[in-house]
Amino acid sequence: MEFQEVLQKRRSIRSYKPDAVPAEAVAKIRTAVELAPTACNLQPFKVFFVTDKAVKEKICRIYKATWLASAPAIAVVAGNYDECWKRLEGDPIADVDCAIVMEHITLSAADCGLGTCWICAFPRAEMDAALGLNKPWKSVAITPVGYADHQPKARPGKDAAELFEVI
Ligand SMILES: Cc1cc2nc3c(=O)[nH]c(=O)nc-3n(C[C@H](O)[C@H](O)[C@H](O)COP(=O)(O)O)c2cc1C
Repeated sequence: MEFQEVLQKRRSIRSYKPDAVPAEAVAKIRTAVELAPTACNLQPFKVFFVTDKAVKEKICRIYKATWLASAPAIAVVAGNYDECWKRLEGDPIADVDCAIVMEHITLSAADCGLGTCWICAFPRAEMDAALGLNKPWKSVAITPVGYADHQPKARPGKDAAELFEVI
């Protein structure tokens, strides 16, 4: 798929068909994860591509949305807040690194014709416990991955001039 088309195709999908994510698509998503840039190339992240029913159910008990449960897979991006590069003021950059990783996942999934939806509104400590993550690791974002069972409505947005200015 042409890159601009991938950008247009990626939308938040909140209903999924039960069909499994094909192995070739999982491999493409894994490559996209490997290619994600991180500060100082420290790669302070881990992606869990969850297809196991029991683990998926645990996640769905934490982020309670029926549409999440409808997805055949859930990708979780976790960051290492010690191992990551620190800003000049000392703040860890892990959130930024993990956001780039998640965006690589959502865009490569879109390139494979798959839907995703960024999710951050979950209780982090509960998600960490479900995945066996301990300090300095923390979950950052999750996304369902699967074939869309609905067509999202046109997305309202701010005026481009408000968001982007050539100066
Ligand atoms: C950092 C981030 C966190 C988000 N968290 C959630 C979430 O917890 N639940 C949800 O349903 N959507 C979540 N979204 C999806 C946004 O609502 C969605 O991206 C936005 O409305 C634009 O729609 P689009 O993705 O279809 O272009 C999140 C998106 C981002 C980028």
